[in-house]
Amino acid sequence: MKGVIIYDTSHGNTKKIAETLTETLKASEIDVDLFDVKEVKKISTSDYNFLVLGSPTKFGTMSFAMKSFLGKVKSEVWTDKPFAAFDTENPENVEQSRIQNKEWSAAEKIAIKLKEKNMKQLLPVLKALVLGWKGPLVDGEVDRAKGYATQLASKLKEEEA
Ligand SMILES: Cc1cc2nc3c(=O)[nH]c(=O)nc-3n(C[C@H](O)[C@H](O)[C@H](O)COP(=O)(O)O)c2cc1C
Repeated sequence: MKGVIIYDTSHGNTKKIAETLTETLKASEIDVDLFDVKEVKKISTSDYNFLVLGSPTKFGTMSFAMKSFLGKVKSEVWTDKPFAAFDTENPENVEQSRIQNKEWSAAEKIAIKLKEKNMKQLLPVLKALVLGWKGPLVDGEVDRAKGYATQLASKLKEEEA
């Protein structure tokens, strides 16, 4: 089983989480490639068995580049294949989503789109917290991403079994 992690980033926070997920999955013996969504023309997604997508939350949803990439994720290729989604967002955003009972998160919106393509969500989304409009990541979020990837590796191994 080989997967691909595709992320968007403007200020490097989402990239840092994507790199952490990649390193941790590899350390758990899961084969995975990592790409910036801006390099996506080079990727043949049908070479992969699972998909992990990450985007900064911008105005309550995913970035334009990630939305555009999702349009290329064809259900003919990806039906029943596993996925996970992550984003970076502010703690206030998480609180507002909770109070208003409405999702303002890039990762939740990505997950909705991938489920519409009949893909299989392996874990609840990871919302990595950042301070302000450019970050940095809140202390402890890189470690939380490592924990997330460890859980994801277990789920992927169950899928393979
Ligand atoms: C134009 C713009 C809109 C943003 N909108 C939101 C938002 O709606 N909710 C939120 O939590 N963070 C918002 N942010 C903060 C980003 O989510 C945060 O900067 C993110 O970590 C950026 O990721 P990056 O470093 O990978 O580019 C916004 C940032 C920018 C620049």
